[in-house]
Amino acid sequence: MAAIRILTGSVYGGALQTAKTIKTTLESEGYKVSVLENPSLEDMTANDDALLVCTSTTGQGELPPNLLPFYIELKDQLPQQPGRPFGVIVLGDSSYGDTFCGAGELMEEALYETCARKVGDTLKIDALETIEPETEALEWARQWVTQI
Ligand SMILES: Cc1cc2nc3c(=O)[nH]c(=O)nc-3n(C[C@H](O)[C@H](O)[C@H](O)COP(=O)(O)O)c2cc1C
Repeated sequence: MAAIRILTGSVYGGALQTAKTIKTTLESEGYKVSVLENPSLEDMTANDDALLVCTSTTGQGELPPNLLPFYIELKDQLPQQPGRPFGVIVLGDSSYGDTFCGAGELMEEALYETCARKVGDTLKIDALETIEPETEALEWARQWVTQI
């Protein structure tokens, strides 16, 4: 079964908890899953696991500080990853208007530049609509893994 690396970005813990919930469930279904809380570029380039971004949005459509160094390295080096599957789960709050879930767009654009292959539509989780992001994300992730 596929191995999955979850790249997390989180300020208050919601996205991290979401990633951990996905890990627990998918592992019980036979997948190998790692959750990276402070990913470096090497965590991505040293293997060919499927990538799942699970990040919240902070500032004005920005990435949380724990994911920002990875993003900067990625944009700087753009290691080519042709066909490598990735998916995006992003937490945000629609009251932020134009910057709603902006962190997901940043990560998606950067991964596209490496020629990685996006699987499934981005899951945007709106804090105004749900207080349990992990429930929504788990349902999405179970579909996502069947497509990677
Ligand atoms: C200071 C601050 C800035 C935020 N900026 C945005 C934003 O620009 N766009 C957005 O969609 N959500 C924004 N949010 C909402 C968070 O992304 C949302 O509450 C998310 O669920 C937090 O997840 P976390 O617990 O993993 O940090 C912001 C929240 C805070 C506290």
